[in-house]
Amino acid sequence: MKRKNLTDLKEETVFLNYKNPGTAVITGASAGIGLTFANKLAAHGFDLVLIARRKERLQDIATRLESEYSIQCEIIPADLALVEDIGKVADTIKQISNLDILINNAGFATQGYFADVPIEKDMRMLHVHMTASIQFTHAALQIMRKRKQGVLINVSSIGAYILTPGNVLYDATKSFLCTFSENLRLEVRGLGIKIQALCPGFVRTEFHEVGDFKNFDRSAVPDSIWMTPESVVLQSLKALEKNRKTIIIPGWKKRFSKWLYMNSALVRSLLQKKFEDSAQNI
Ligand SMILES: NC(=O)c1ccc[n+]([C@@H]2O[C@H](COP(=O)([O-])OP(=O)(O)OC[C@H]3O[C@@H](n4cnc5c(N)ncnc54)[C@H](OP(=O)(O)O)[C@@H]3O)[C@@H](O)[C@H]2O)c1
Repeated sequence: MKRKNLTDLKEETVFLNYKNPGTAVITGASAGIGLTFANKLAAHGFDLVLIARRKERLQDIATRLESEYSIQCEIIPADLALVEDIGKVADTIKQISNLDILINNAGFATQGYFADVPIEKDMRMLHVHMTASIQFTHAALQIMRKRKQGVLINVSSIGAYILTPGNVLYDATKSFLCTFSENLRLEVRGLGIKIQALCPGFVRTEFHEVGDFKNFDRSAVPDSIWMTPESVVLQSLKALEKNRKTIIIPGWKKRFSKWLYMNSALVRSLLQKKFEDSAQNI
């Protein structure tokens, strides 16, 4: 049988059978995976609320999407490492009466041995990945439970499963998002609410250009391992349509890597050694 290419997938995606798309809230919408979700959902007619720190970038994106797709696009410039900003965004989410989708996507990584990374930096990451996702999900569920419909996507990482020295808190916060999503799914069973923890591997975004990854050598990772944000988002949305699983790892190579890591002590120790070396060279 012929393998389907991504263009076929795109055309086939009848996104969640929404006849009257409501509003989608996306954190980390100024770049990468979040921006790709925004483009895709705008094309499907969803109004958007976009959240990130870079206000001008968000404004440009909102203006473009409103004119291309005749949707409404609000922006909330916010630093999700700050508890006050998280509270402000959560209050806004509670007011969105036609909230259909929440995507907790904002994120970044610190790098280095846990005891060496300044604790303030790690706590910022913890707030962006965990505190914000917890509060926004809680706020969104107040609306979604009443409407008996909704979609929650928590963007985790394959790092939740493939543990590597130098990424201790990153992996732990992403692992939290998986457990949180899986258990929440049990609670909302029967309420028409879909929950996904999306666990990508290496994706070509700005992620490896900012913060501790500024000097990351992308060529150290083989080309065939990288995915595009478009393919990650398409696979996420396709999986939501089927809604069979909570944990979604886009790309068969990533699923195979996870399987190898879980089942081979040799692979685990080789990989951990490689990461140990690079973490010590920071
Ligand atoms: N790229 C990968 O290889 C990869 C792999 C696995 C998982 N992921 C996960 O995918 C998610 C999206 O990352 P990406 O690859 O799309 O990276 P990206 O291109 O760097 O985008 C990250 C987004 O998060 C926002 N953000 C970062 N810190 C923030 C803060 N303090 N407050 C508010 N927004 C903040 C950024 O916006 P501003 O800078 O404008 O605030 C940006 O919109 C992350 O959760 C990441 O952990 C990525």
